[in-house]
Amino acid sequence: MVISAKEMLQKARAEKYAVAQININNLEWAKSALTVAQELESPIILGCTEGAGRYMTGYKTVVGMVNGMLEEMKITVPVALHLDHGSYEHCYRCIDAGFMSIMFDGSHYPIEENLAKTKELVEVCHSKGISLEAEVGAIGGDEDGVSAAGECADPEECKMIADLGVDFLAAGIGNIHGQYPADWPGLSFETLEAVKNKVGEELPLVLHGGTGIPADMIQKAISLGVSKINVNTECQLSFAAATRKYIEEGKDRQGKGFDPRKLLLPGAEAIKVTVREKLTLFGSVGKA
Ligand code: 13P
Repeated sequence: MVISAKEMLQKARAEKYAVAQININNLEWAKSALTVAQELESPIILGCTEGAGRYMTGYKTVVGMVNGMLEEMKITVPVALHLDHGSYEHCYRCIDAGFMSIMFDGSHYPIEENLAKTKELVEVCHSKGISLEAEVGAIGGDEDGVSAAGECADPEECKMIADLGVDFLAAGIGNIHGQYPADWPGLSFETLEAVKNKVGEELPLVLHGGTGIPADMIQKAISLGVSKINVNTECQLSFAAATRKYIEEGKDRQGKGFDPRKLLLPGAEAIKVTVREKLTLFGSVGKA
């Protein structure tokens, strides 16, 4: 069931759990994520980066594939397809292609420009019933070519963006895309608390870089207003490890083990295990 991400996250905010944004790369990713969400009666957001959109031949393909799966797989849990870290131009492309939720990442612009572009996109999205996520303070690391050193958000700037009517807000709190280095100091809960105090209790906050954040930090973040947690790298690592094992065990050489539907199966199953773990940790099981 396609549902507005805004509604999904407001419920999560009120009931103190987080909805997982599982980033998708291809059919296996989307199928595995939707299968688990349905099985666990959990809402889910499917994230698509610009790079993943290009890989899948374009946003219309992504929309067509996801909508087709919702129907063919008889998915009844709430699902939203969301552009992850969209540039100004790609936000418009996704709006035209039929995405129901958009992230405009204007965090690399001076704050005045981030505010102006976010304001415009809030108006366009809301006139079409689309949810909009904005970003303040950069998420560190690299995701599909979107890279930044990582900086904690300024709570005053978060308030300015929140006042534009954004539906949910990604505020940098020391989180990083990809794997965390051994000397990572952890999430800045002082920043998260200061942001929440400025923007108010109601606005759902988004935690990017969900791969590798310890469970206790995840739970604390949720208790402080995080209602959406993005996971990308961890599914890629699970998929890669399971595929490597299959090939190293020579299974592709046994019978018709080279059949792509067999070759990709262990990876797809491994994604399911990761998604199950995340939905359970984030508390969204049974919340559909
Ligand atoms: P990870 O790749 O670290 O899980 O981060 C995902 C993310 O934040 C998507 O925007």
